[in-house]
Formats: sequence, C-alpha cells, structure tokens
Amino acid sequence: MQIRVVPDQPWSVAADVLAVPVFAGDLEGADGEVLSELDRRLDGAIGEYRRLGEVDSQLFRRVMLRGRDLGASWLLAVGAGDGAAFDRRTAYRFAASIERRLAGLHVTRMAIWLPASIARSGSAAAAASGAPPMSLDDLVMLVARGVVEGSYDPATIYRGGYQDAPPALDELVIVASGPDMAALEAAAERGRVIGEGARIARDLANRASNDVSPEVLADAATDLAKANGLSIDVIGPERATEMGMGLFMAVGRGSDNPPRLIVLRNGADGARDAQGRLLALVGKGVTFDSGGISIKPSDRMEEMKMDKTGACTVIAAIVTAKRLAPDLPLLALAPAVENMPGSHSTRPGDIVKALNGKVVEVQNTDAEGRLILGDALTYAERLGATHLLDAATLTGAVERAFGKQVTGAFGTPQPWYDAVVAAGARQGERYWQIPLVDDYVRDMESWYADFQNSGPADGSLVKSGLFLREFVTRPWVHLDIAGTAYMRRATPWAPRGATGTSHATMVELALEGAKPA
Ligand code: BES
Ligand code: MN
Ligand code: ZN
Repeated sequence: MQIRVVPDQPWSVAADVLAVPVFAGDLEGADGEVLSELDRRLDGAIGEYRRLGEVDSQLFRRVMLRGRDLGASWLLAVGAGDGAAFDRRTAYRFAASIERRLAGLHVTRMAIWLPASIARSGSAAAAASGAPPMSLDDLVMLVARGVVEGSYDPATIYRGGYQDAPPALDELVIVASGPDMAALEAAAERGRVIGEGARIARDLANRASNDVSPEVLADAATDLAKANGLSIDVIGPERATEMGMGLFMAVGRGSDNPPRLIVLRNGADGARDAQGRLLALVGKGVTFDSGGISIKPSDRMEEMKMDKTGACTVIAAIVTAKRLAPDLPLLALAPAVENMPGSHSTRPGDIVKALNGKVVEVQNTDAEGRLILGDALTYAERLGATHLLDAATLTGAVERAFGKQVTGAFGTPQPWYDAVVAAGARQGERYWQIPLVDDYVRDMESWYADFQNSGPADGSLVKSGLFLREFVTRPWVHLDIAGTAYMRRATPWAPRGATGTSHATMVELALEGAKPA
C-alpha cells in the first residue's frame, strides 16, 4: 500500500472512497466551509442524511453516500463523537473503523479527510487526560496505523477463500495540511510500520496451539530476524538446563513440544542507545496453558492458546523498532513453552532453582508465566539489559479488576514506570498502576524454598508482581495484558482475537533511545 499525505481539497482527491469525520456540533471556520462544499457537491445529501439522523456524530457510525461531484466515487460519513474528546485512542479507532467498514467491498483507493481542527481538539482532549498534546503529526501517524491495523482479519489465517476481510488497499491518501508536509509523510510512514508490526504480533498470537509450538514460534522469530537483520539465539532444553534455568525448564519439561528461549538482539554486545540504555523487551510465550498438573477447568480453556501473546508482541516490537531505527541497540526475549500435564510435568510442591540462584516451590503449576519470566528477566540482565519491560497474559485477576480496556502495570523505580506509561499514552494505550505491596511478600513464604510461586488468593494480582520483582535488579516494568491481549467479540475497529496491545508502547519507548537524552 502506498500512503500519501496531501494538502489538497478533499473533493479533488481521486479515490474509490473519501472518508469524512462527522463531529457533534458544527466545524468551525475553514473546516466548516470545506464540509459545506462537500455537501453542495453531493446535492445536499450530507445535510439531509444528517437531519434524518442516518448520518450522525455517534462514534463509529458509518454511512456510505454516492460521491456525485467528487474525485471519489463514494463518501463515507464516519461518526467521530465530540471533538473535545477526540484523543489518540479515538483517532486510532476512528481510522481502523473506516477500513473495517470497507470489508467485502471492492475498494482499493481510500482517502481520509482530517480537518485542521481535529488535531487542535485532540490536543485539548489529550491535555485533559494528562497525555501530551496531540500534534497533527501524531494524528496522521495514528490514522495510518489505524488503517493498517484495521485491515487485519484473523479469519484469513486458516480459511483460504475468505472474502469478507477488509480490503488490501493499493493507496491511502490522508488529506491534511500542515506547515511541514514532509514531516506528515514521515509520520504516516511511521504509523504504517507500527501498524504492520502489530499485525505480525496479532497474526502469531491468533494462531492455534497445534500450529504454533515453542519450536514453530522460534522458527517464525528466526525468519523475521533474517528478513530484518536482527541477531537471534534460540536456547533449547539442553542448554537451558545446563545454564541453570530451572524455572523455565520446570514449565517446559512437561510437554512433548520442547521449550525454546528466543533471544533477539539488535546492535553489538555492550552497545547502548542514545539514552545510555539497553532496553530488553521480555514476553510470556506459553503456546498453550492447560494449567499443567494444576489443570484448569475446561470452560474457556481454548482461550489459553492466547497465552503466548506477550512473546509474539516483543518479537514483533523488535522488528518494528529495527525497521524504524536500524542502529538502535535493543533486546527481545521470548521464553516459549507449552504448559501441559503429563508424567514429565512439574508437580505442585516441587522445588526448583532459578537462574538467579533463588529456590522456588511450585505451589501451583498454573502460575507458570511468572516462572518462565523469572529466568528470562535474569537472562536479560546477564545480556547487559539496563532497563526491562515485560508483557504477559499473567493473571485472570487483572481482567476481573480492569476489564479489557486497561492494562494493569507494575514498575520500579517510579520514573521508569512513568516513562513507559508516557510512551504508551503517545500511542493511545492505557495503563493503570498496581502497587507492589511489601506486606504481601510473607504470603508467598515457603518452608522449603526461598518462596513459592503463588499464595492465598487475596491480592493475587499484587503477588504476581512481587514474584517477578525477585528476578530483577534494574529498572523494570511489567504489563499484565491478560485482559487486553484479545477480545471475545468484534468491535467497529477490530475483529475478535488478538489486539496487538502494548506493541506500540514498546516501539515508542524503544525509539526514545534513538534520540539523545
Ligand atoms: N495464563 C493464565 C492467566 C490468564 C487467565 C490469561 C485468563 C488470560 C485469561 C495464567 O498462567 C494463570 O493461570 N494464572 C493464574 C494464577 C494463579 C494460579 C495464581 C490465575 O490467574 O488464575
Ligand atoms: Mn497458568
Ligand atoms: Zn498462563
């Protein structure tokens, strides 16, 4: 797909479809005049449909009108809500919902008109929510990202003849004018690359567990590494055992599909980014979580193919970062295992030794994510990481607490947590901080080991963070994406399945390392 950003009048742009936002209230000044001219060129249809209530500002309401005297054959009126609430998250969803509206239609060239006032009101909406103001560059980036992600449909993974996916566009024209058109083009390109990365993450995560084993995930990472010039090291069970990764192996040993610790790197050994950091992205890669011997109830167990989403996200994020900043030093670690019950499985009560020397009692084999992450975090530090960010579908508790729209997050020290959340805010991703309450550490005490991997259910979300904290000595943030990683229902902006959550946060955070402090 070619993306262009043009300062033209929207009616002069040649396209199959021209998407036009419909805000509550009237557009001011020049924007209002442009809208009136569009309406005039449609013989007043926009106004008539709006009076009828068919065209409306309600978010994601999308109505297709015949283009008549336009460069575009069709005009898609898209509800954009209250201008004062049009923040980054809405901008991304607005764009994705436009692309999704085209599902099943014969459209290859789309244009989206972004009135000048959107960035202004978006900026105010952002400021009200504590995020940095949204510039026109940000808006264009989010719109490009949204269109690219909006074209993603997991129904195409296994169904050859599937016809109802959003169309692969040949051309996207973003109609927006700013003082620096080259900067807008660059922003659109950045949005496209981030969107493509999210598609990689979503595509891997959505694949079934009989398709994606740890080995297959490692092969996919290897292919991506080769195609993008990243180094990769894949550690199998023999080496992991020899190195002393007792937590990783405790989970990995129970399946006939052997575990793989996938390590991707950009930059030479010892290299630091322009901020003096070496960031490591670490993602939980449980290709299926049956619970192990502490087996899960069968209800919704099929969702546990999604337990590899954190791994898929970090693999995609380092690829995206490499494409946007080829010289940026960065690490991504994805411990991949299948958590299964069997005669080789770890049993409740087993005692294992972590790579960092700590002794852990596996009280519950279903609290497996924290085990594999523990060793992966230790290993990331051994590889020289100065800063750590992990993403994991770690607890059911986080979804009960925050639902599917907010990712629960932990971190220490606070400035590093704040840096991660600020990077997320610039991409419209939302986090809420969970406290690391030291009082609960004693709930994880064990008679035989330094501590156990779970404890009494009260505060179990906090305890999951406390467990991980035992394996880090550097600035670290943990994102519990169990609620936000996948949707059970489609929305106007996304199909059901993997959402790609936190991919954009990771990329945005990593790219800070491409600018000097
Ligand atoms: N993968 C699950 C968490 C999960 C649950 C993700 C629902 C997505 C949706 C994780 O490994 C798990 O089983 N966590 C346990 C922890 C408990 C045993 C301490 C949980 O949340 O019940
Ligand atoms: Mn589990
Ligand atoms: Zn799990």
